[in-house]
Parts: sequence; structure tokens; C-alpha cells
Amino acid sequence: MHHLLVTGGAGFIGANFVHYMIDQYPEYHIVVYDKLTYAGRRENLDPVADRPNYTFIQGDICDAEQVRQAITTHQIDTIVNFAAETHVDRSILDPDAFVKTDVLGVSVLCEAVRALQLERFHHVSTDEVYGPIPEGTCTETDAFRPTSPYAASKASGELLALSYHITYGLPLTITRGVNTYGPYQYPEKVMPLFITNALDDLPLPLYGDGRQVRDRLHVLDHARAIDLVLHRGQAGHAYNVAADCEKTNIEVARLIVQALGKPESLIQSVTDRPAHDIRYALDTSKLQALGWQPQVDFEQGFAATIDWYCQHQPWWRPIKSGDYLAYYRRQYGEHLATLLGSTSAQD
Ligand code: NAD
Ligand code: TYD
Repeated sequence: MHHLLVTGGAGFIGANFVHYMIDQYPEYHIVVYDKLTYAGRRENLDPVADRPNYTFIQGDICDAEQVRQAITTHQIDTIVNFAAETHVDRSILDPDAFVKTDVLGVSVLCEAVRALQLERFHHVSTDEVYGPIPEGTCTETDAFRPTSPYAASKASGELLALSYHITYGLPLTITRGVNTYGPYQYPEKVMPLFITNALDDLPLPLYGDGRQVRDRLHVLDHARAIDLVLHRGQAGHAYNVAADCEKTNIEVARLIVQALGKPESLIQSVTDRPAHDIRYALDTSKLQALGWQPQVDFEQGFAATIDWYCQHQPWWRPIKSGDYLAYYRRQYGEHLATLLGSTSAQD
């Protein structure tokens, strides 16, 4: 395992994973292959742009010929697949792109791994494949009960990849991670959206009563877990990745306004997400048996994340304009959108 193709490596978790792996394994060649959708940003990879063991290719995982070329040109032996459409709310507005990338794209990668006999295909999946978990925790053998088009597409992609393992012996590993936070997260996801809105004294749109529970995992711990499964995981196996740090959305919203010295009145309840899963929670015994423990304490990771968005306004301010505004209006309605639009216009 020395030549890695990191698909979706210009997105949030992918870019953090690439930064981590390049430092951790200077002898590996890391090729990022990313379509650069609205969520993929070349500048997320600026910290490693000058490294001799790093290459960037703009490409779509649905394009079988371009995937094959990338693999053969760079003598790739391992694929780590982060590439996906990832936002639940967008999947409710427009499911089509989710089926294409999260299902058909995975099938293209599986075919390439099979035909070119690669050593490993690591697929990055999500806790959302299990569906809502009102009590207790899910283990890796529990049934899939996805509720959103995003979760259903991710579940379908995983099932297809597993079928390749069972039928053709594809050297597959899977990680199913919980809600991840940290630097470079696109500000449509709850934590960066709330932090950047609060910084501009804009409302924090809390869905429903905000009592939904999510486990909050720092992105560096997510990257370490994938590294561990890549090197010590068993082919044909999935591994849950979680932080055991459950927080409701309203708790997170309050922590954000407190940390930034803003009034709680900024937190505004808005229409709930359809089929909003009440809670996700995973059992991580299987990953712990490989030697994993999350290392980032929530208080520290959260404070560092707030600080990162305060210090990196040139990163997120351009994102929160243009197409983003059109999405924001569509998702949150004219009231919140007008506030966002008028503030952006003053910048
Ligand atoms: P992201 O939306 O920030 O990044 C996705 C990346 O994939 C972007 O760089 C985008 O340009 C790229 N991409 C999209 N379609 C592509 C295509 N057809 N071909 C090539 N590249 C394409 O997402 P993220 O939050 O970094 O998530 C990465 C992976 O981790 C996803 O598979 C997601 O399902 C999974 N995951 C995310 C979380 C989370 O909390 N963010 C939790 C668990 C699992
Ligand atoms: P999100 O960051 O979209 O991740 P996911 O849906 O993959 O878990 O949402 C996390 C939680 O925050 C989820 O319960 C929905 C909630 N949420 C809000 O309350 N308001 C928002 O504007 C967003 C984007 C999410």
C-alpha cells in the first residue's frame, strides 16, 4: 500500500485525511481525484500543495475511463473513497446527484478495483445507513434502515461494494462514521453554518425543537480511524467510528453563541427537516479491538474549530455568496435568506 487514490479528497474529511496521511506516511504517493463540486475546494489542499508526494486530478468517479487512467498512470494500489454528495437537506431537494455519485460512482470504483486488481478499496460510509436509533447503539451487523435519500444512497453504495467482496473477493473495507466536525467543513453543515452565522449576528436555524441527538467526532479522529482500518482492518468488514460524545442540536447551538459572546435570541426554531432522524449512536468495540480510541476531547476540538472559523474568514466568506445564497433561500425561506443576503451585500 504505497500509491493511494483519494477520491473526494478536496472535501471536508478527505482534505483533512490527506493532510494527516502526507505527514504520517511521507513515503506514500497520494493522488487526490475530485470532481470539485460546490463542496470540493482546491484550496482545502493548499497546505500540502508543494509536497513532492502529492498529485491532484480533477475528475468524476462516475467516469470509468478517467478513473482507469488515473489508476494506471499513477500505479495506484489502493483507493480510499470519500467522494459523495453529502448533505441530507440537499438530498431532499434534489436526490438525483446522490444516486449518481453515491451509488453509480461506487459501482465504477468497484469495477476498476476488480479489473485492475488493486490491493484495497476503502469506502467511507456513515452512521446514517442504520437509520434512527432512539436507544442503545448499533453494531456493524445491524440492519440498514436509511430514511433520507442521502442515507439510502450511501447504504446502496455500501451494499453494492459488499456484493463485490462476496462475489469477486474484492479487497474491501468500510468505515461508518458519525457526525464529524473540524476545519474546512462546508458551511451548510450544522456546526460551521451556526458558527459563521453567529459571527455575522445572523439567525441560527434550528430544525424543530433541536432535541435530535448526534455523536460529535473530530475530523482528525475520523482520519486516524480510517488510517487504522486501512492498515489493520480485515477485508470484507465494516467498522463503526464514533466519539461517544452525544449532544443535542440545541446544546451545540447554545455552546456556539456562548463561545462567541452572542445572544441566545439568535437561535431560531424553523420548520423541521422531513423524516429527521432523532438520534444516531454506534458501538465501536470492533474498532477499539484494532487499538483505536478517539484522542480529541470535545471541549478542545470545539474551541479549536470555533477559532479556525474566526481565523479563516477568507476561506468561508466567498463560499457564502453566489450559488450558496440561492441554496440558502430555497432551504430556509425568504426571511432568513434576506438577512443573509443583506449582510453579505455589506461585506
Ligand atoms: P464533502 O461534501 O465535504 O466532500 C465531498 C467531496 O466529494 C467534495 O470534494 C466533492 O467535490 C467530491 N465529489 C462529489 N461528487 C464527486 C464525484 N462524482 N466524483 C469525484 N468527486 C466527487 O463531504 P465530507 O463531509 O468530507 O464527507 C466525505 C465522506 O464521508 C462522504 O462519503 C460522506 O458520506 C462520509 N461521511 C461524512 C460525515 C460527516 O459528518 N461529514 C460523517 C460520516 C461519513
Ligand atoms: P447536518 O450537519 O446536516 O448533518 P446530518 O444531517 O448528516 O446529521 O445536521 C446535523 C444535525 O443538525 C441534524 O440533526 C440536523 C440539524 N440541523 C439544524 O437543526 N439546522 C440546520 O440548519 C442544519 C443544516 C442541521
